[in-house]
Amino acid sequence: MSARIIDGKAIAAEIRREIRLDVSAMAAQTGAVPCLAAILVGNDPASATYVQNKARACKEVGITSARIDLPTDLPEASLLQEIARLNSDPSVHAILVQLPLPPHISERRVLEAILPEKDVDGFHPVNLGGLLVGAPLFVASTPLGILELLNRSNVGIEGKHAVVVGWSVVVGKPTAFLLLQHHATVTICHIKTQDLALHTRQADILVVAAGKPGLVTGSMVKAGAVVIDVGVNRLTDGRVVGDVDFPGVAEKASLITPVPGGVGPMTVAMLLRNTVDACRRSCDAGRPPGTMPAASGTNRIAQS
Ligand code: GUN
Repeated sequence: MSARIIDGKAIAAEIRREIRLDVSAMAAQTGAVPCLAAILVGNDPASATYVQNKARACKEVGITSARIDLPTDLPEASLLQEIARLNSDPSVHAILVQLPLPPHISERRVLEAILPEKDVDGFHPVNLGGLLVGAPLFVASTPLGILELLNRSNVGIEGKHAVVVGWSVVVGKPTAFLLLQHHATVTICHIKTQDLALHTRQADILVVAAGKPGLVTGSMVKAGAVVIDVGVNRLTDGRVVGDVDFPGVAEKASLITPVPGGVGPMTVAMLLRNTVDACRRSCDAGRPPGTMPAASGTNRIAQS
């Protein structure tokens, strides 16, 4: 079997077009323009590029973005103060703090300082906990992007065995709970899992987010599986590869995401979607009860 490629770049472009229409319709109806504030602490080049890409994507769809650059040696208290200022600014609908942060700053304390209703990264414990009960305000962009890739590729989730390799708070755990919410039977594998291949071979849907180039090879995948590769690994020769041995796995899978051009572009698209939802929710909060329009974002996840 030779897998069909899931073109994340094309799907993300389609979603951005939908968001652009949404933003202009909302502006026409309510006058509101979504605004995302992105905080970058320090001068890590990769983080700076990510923030720059997010700002460019915002501009493309009509979302206002404000970038706040802060020095590496900034005391944690000053960062918390900056977040408090953005929390109380009604013109800012969405806040993200680019990770990682310098080691002297507690990521947990910083993420907990962002108001859950402005936490478009979905990293606040209220939003992570909301995922467990099926009602988060925001789900992290990468898991949302994975679900959207499956939906738009007509991959049914209900009743399937989904195996998630990687248990990070940013990708692995929220992806597993989203898949569970959509009635998959879910296995989570992690660094201590014994006989990884025993589990991956059972997957109808295999999501790999371990940060290890070439971790999953063709012999570890069931014929016809759908394989989503979340890894982004830069090799010493400059090539960027995923966690999946693409040529070997593509021989066995029915559908597979490439790296680059698979999950990556979806992450930014879903961040934009979350930002529009944050703005819409803040507009709706000002309406009299019973006059709220139906939510249109992707955060309405299936209830069991
Ligand atoms: N660093 C790597 N990925 C992410 C992300 O999705 N959001 C934020 N804020 N920082 C990151």
